[in-house]
Amino acid sequence: MPDQSQTTNRGSGYNRRDFLKGSGAAVAATAIAAQATDEVQAQGKGKPNVVSSGATKVKLTVNGKDHVLMLEPRAVLLDVLRNDLNLTGCKDVDDRTASGADTVMIDGKPVLASSRLAIQCVGQTIQTVESLSDGKNVDEVITGFVKHDAMQCGFCTPGFVMATRAVLNKNPKASLEEIQKQLGGNICRCGTYHGITKCALEIAKKGGA
Ligand code: FES
Repeated sequence: MPDQSQTTNRGSGYNRRDFLKGSGAAVAATAIAAQATDEVQAQGKGKPNVVSSGATKVKLTVNGKDHVLMLEPRAVLLDVLRNDLNLTGCKDVDDRTASGADTVMIDGKPVLASSRLAIQCVGQTIQTVESLSDGKNVDEVITGFVKHDAMQCGFCTPGFVMATRAVLNKNPKASLEEIQKQLGGNICRCGTYHGITKCALEIAKKGGA
């Protein structure tokens, strides 16, 4: 004989308690299904390239200052410099590291900021074009660019300035051939190469800044 406490007096065999239990189970099942769908999508099965392992605390040393940031491991150095640290001198031209407009120095060597993940730069010294002027003292490369009219639209200029500074840091008496070779990875659509080379050579002839 069935347990009467689980049935209604109307003989339907389905009481209010059963209904509430069933509803609760349905809600729970829906929630679990939604969560599972989200997880599958987050794994890249539902959406392309949306996988993220979350932000991580990262310390970057930029222009002599330490910055502690919460960054996703996929964060590109160029984006972090521009978007998180508001250092917009380095430019994002083509996402392909082809122009050199994103040139910065890492541990004294010229590097394209869009070619590095920020987390790769932990423990290294990053220098952007902003470090070459404090508002009063301006690096000789910058004043040389102005003197020799080495810029037009100026979009490539910060990258060229950093690349030129790196050449002259490496060899304060760099030759024309050396300068041209070291600046070979930077492109200027406006064709200001002559002025840039004149600037670099003039500083090199003085033995460097
Ligand atoms: S000054 Fe315009 S791209 Fe170089």
